[in-house]
Amino acid sequence: MANKTFHLPVVPAESLGATLRTDNWWAGPALTFFVLSSFIAYATWRTFEGEYFEWDAYLSPFYSPLFDVSWAHKAGLAFITPAMLILPGPLSFRFTCYYYRKAYYRSFGWDPPACAVGERAAHRYSGETKLFIFQNLHRYAMYVAVVFLVLLWKDAIVAIVGWRDGIHVGVGTLVMLTNVVLLSGYTFGCHSFRHAIGGGVNSYSTAPFGALRFRLWKLSTVLNERHMLFAWMSLFSVGLTDFYIRMVSSGTITDVRLF
Ligand code: FES
Repeated sequence: MANKTFHLPVVPAESLGATLRTDNWWAGPALTFFVLSSFIAYATWRTFEGEYFEWDAYLSPFYSPLFDVSWAHKAGLAFITPAMLILPGPLSFRFTCYYYRKAYYRSFGWDPPACAVGERAAHRYSGETKLFIFQNLHRYAMYVAVVFLVLLWKDAIVAIVGWRDGIHVGVGTLVMLTNVVLLSGYTFGCHSFRHAIGGGVNSYSTAPFGALRFRLWKLSTVLNERHMLFAWMSLFSVGLTDFYIRMVSSGTITDVRLF
């Protein structure tokens, strides 16, 4: 039987964008760049705006928990808004997320922009051991995110029972509930969360709370397998929830009461 010889395609590795790929490999990084840039621009504007973040029982996720910043204003720091004090929490969680790292390393860093595509600065990658060593703090950012998640669940419940005239459900309530469900899917599917509840165990059957941990780990795994999906859907839902509450609070639209 004749031996067949296979030759791997040679790509000029030093050339940015050089590739033998014939698919639209650039579409993913380009879309990621556009969406993340848009979100950053919107979130920055809303953080500095400092108004239209609550209406009756609704509170924007950008401003939860709502801190009193009158002390800063009295000290002459009028530009300080409540959102500035809390955004570092959720931001550090997203910024160090394993999925988002891949997404923004490719779309913003081009190093490389996609698999089997020429990179921007060939052979200079030092992983996350130098400038990006802080990414290792993700496991701690996860605990912070869980605290914020509890607060957002409280806000969603307040959006039902906390109305000035009793208990109601408005469109905004459903928007807030959808947001917190998607955020839960994102947070509980986090690699660090999955490890925290199911890692470091040699045998579930002999470990303390082993059966419970195994069940939770399996649930987290289901979410983890869809982590990218939840990452994007929860990003959209946070922005849209804030946008909806801003529209209602500013009087641009009227919230529809369903119950
Ligand atoms: S890995 Fe994405 S949130 Fe932890």
